[in-house]
Amino acid sequence: MAEALNKIGIVGAGQMGTGIAHVVALAGYDVTLYDVSPERAIKGLERVSRTLDRQLASSKITAEDKAAALSRLSAAGSVGDLADMDLVIEAATEDETVKRKIYATVCPVLKAEAILATNTSSISITRLASATDRPERFIGIHFMNPVPVMKLVELVRGIATGDATFLASKAFVATLDKTTTVSEDFPAFIVNRILLPMINEAIYTLYEGVGSVESIDTAMKLGANHPMGPLQLADFIGLDTCLSIMQVLHDGLADSKYRPCPLLVKYVEAGWLGRKTNRGFYDYRGEVPVPTR
Ligand SMILES: NC(=O)c1ccc[n+]([C@@H]2O[C@H](COP(=O)([O-])OP(=O)(O)OC[C@H]3O[C@@H](n4cnc5c(N)ncnc54)[C@H](O)[C@@H]3O)[C@@H](O)[C@H]2O)c1
Repeated sequence: MAEALNKIGIVGAGQMGTGIAHVVALAGYDVTLYDVSPERAIKGLERVSRTLDRQLASSKITAEDKAAALSRLSAAGSVGDLADMDLVIEAATEDETVKRKIYATVCPVLKAEAILATNTSSISITRLASATDRPERFIGIHFMNPVPVMKLVELVRGIATGDATFLASKAFVATLDKTTTVSEDFPAFIVNRILLPMINEAIYTLYEGVGSVESIDTAMKLGANHPMGPLQLADFIGLDTCLSIMQVLHDGLADSKYRPCPLLVKYVEAGWLGRKTNRGFYDYRGEVPVPTR
């Protein structure tokens, strides 16, 4: 029998951290959301509340479900609020230095038996685990965006991840009504190993003038039956996250086919990170998204 995990901490109240908080609280767990400042965590909870409102409006949940989920959610005032968590899921910025710093702060606070998981899209679980005091109790639990909608969660074991950690994580994810796949610990795992080079190639297609933003997205939606175009998807993921994943693939596999497109680098340098900054391959500041190239 896998051990029960009841109190769940989440580090990072961005798109993914709030999405995970939403789904985990709806499933009946107590959730504490932590970010660099309590204000950011509170803003994250406000976003969860708005998403719950939308689910209520479309009858996906009841008013009781919403009230119960909100009553289980709290914003951490400080890292000390994670002290009695059974599982902490780190969903902070896709940057190894940032994640290592977080583990240095969070690990001393956690119970010895707490599981620490990362939602990283690409970074080595084995290497991240080595920056913690608990490689056996460390695992990749990779949710997809948007978390309330997407059915898949990739589980990634580092070289030291223990069986008990793996089984408890798998059982936990099953209670969220998600399907798990297990990936070996190689750069970007399964989903992003396949998805991100496709997105990067779409950006090269734009960069080389083969097609406009609209042509590329329409071509892939109608020609390959993708639910959204690759550039729209890149904006949705976050262009900083896309670039980080391509860098991890490029560095980790040492193959030039993973070279990040210079146009992706330029957008990130401009701070045009996609939906989260209201501008990326599309400008979202008006009524309808307008292509930026
Ligand atoms: N965006 C996606 O589609 C997607 C999908 C799956 C997994 N992921 C992964 O999830 C993680 C988060 O991605 P996101 O899209 O939510 O990013 P985001 O930029 O929306 O949010 C990142 C959050 O981390 C916080 N943060 C940064 N440093 C911190 C620190 N020291 N302590 C606490 N919080 C800190 C930021 O304040 C921010 O709220 C990344 O590892 C990413 O690769 C992203």
